[in-house]
Amino acid sequence: GDVAIGLDLGGTKILAALISKDGKVINQTESETSKQGQDGIYTTILTTITKLLVIEDINPNRLKGIGVASAGIIDSTQNVIQYAKNLGMKNFPIGSLLEAHFQLPVKLVNDANAAAVAEWIWGAGRKKRNLVYITVSTGVGAGIISNGRLLTGANDCAGEFGHISIMHNGIQCECGNRGCLEKYTSGTAIAKIANERLLAGESSSLGSIKSGDVTSKHLAAAAEEGDVFSINLLKEVGEYLGTGVNNLIHLFNPEVIVFGGGVMNMSRFIVPSIKEAVRTYGISHMAKGVTIETSTLGKKAGVMGASGLFFANDQHDKFMS
Ligand code: BGC
Ligand code: NA
Ligand code: ZN
Repeated sequence: GDVAIGLDLGGTKILAALISKDGKVINQTESETSKQGQDGIYTTILTTITKLLVIEDINPNRLKGIGVASAGIIDSTQNVIQYAKNLGMKNFPIGSLLEAHFQLPVKLVNDANAAAVAEWIWGAGRKKRNLVYITVSTGVGAGIISNGRLLTGANDCAGEFGHISIMHNGIQCECGNRGCLEKYTSGTAIAKIANERLLAGESSSLGSIKSGDVTSKHLAAAAEEGDVFSINLLKEVGEYLGTGVNNLIHLFNPEVIVFGGGVMNMSRFIVPSIKEAVRTYGISHMAKGVTIETSTLGKKAGVMGASGLFFANDQHDKFMS
């Protein structure tokens, strides 16, 4: 086989793509993530992949398998999604289900880890040996490339950047920890904070939207129009992310940090305060050398990294050459 299917399971969107050995996206389909729990999501997964295989009528002999990039804590030996709060999934045996349905081998990887590999091989982190990819979307996650390798940890779960605490007695997170970075910076969190502040009477052009209905998309539009409330909130998001990024720099000494995810569509309001936090509070010998970039692969990073699991050796050779 010279082609694999990549699937990216996010809290908002499910993306499926047919991808060649060298990372080229041949075709893709996208669906909204069902809000009907894990069975609803599984139905969407099946229809999304099936649609893809109909659009691109590919010879089955060419298909190597399905690489699944999923948000959450995964068990990559059993191909089970252990816990993904943004998908409402617990102990979900995605690997065996898809294997039985499509008669293809399946590999499972964390979404941000997959995207990190893709940005490293094909994107903003090309030819770098030390990089951290951070996604700020429905959730917040990261993948760490250290000394030319993806840092996997004992269970392929390393890089849960959204669940590092930036406040030891902060907001309670569903994961059990308090003050998780994700609780202050994810798309979900930003919308929640905005709604709370508006309800408390802060003034903003968003005040015209029904109480509780403000989304991060509204916030982006308002910031573009110069709404000070929204601009300040996004600046704060950058400060929180900056605290997290300094922790990463001090732990991993990366050359580059690559930001992706839907919230980074607002990067022009967020990245300046991340950079300022790094300049102000980072250990200068380490912080000086780091560049902060935005993803060049965009939302394709996850599917590219996941399908790449089937061509790992080729990718590695390509990277090293
Ligand atoms: C999850 C991570 C994931 C991130 C982005 C977080 O809530 O814990 O595993 O990478 O969201 O989807
Ligand atoms: Na990760
Ligand atoms: Zn948490």
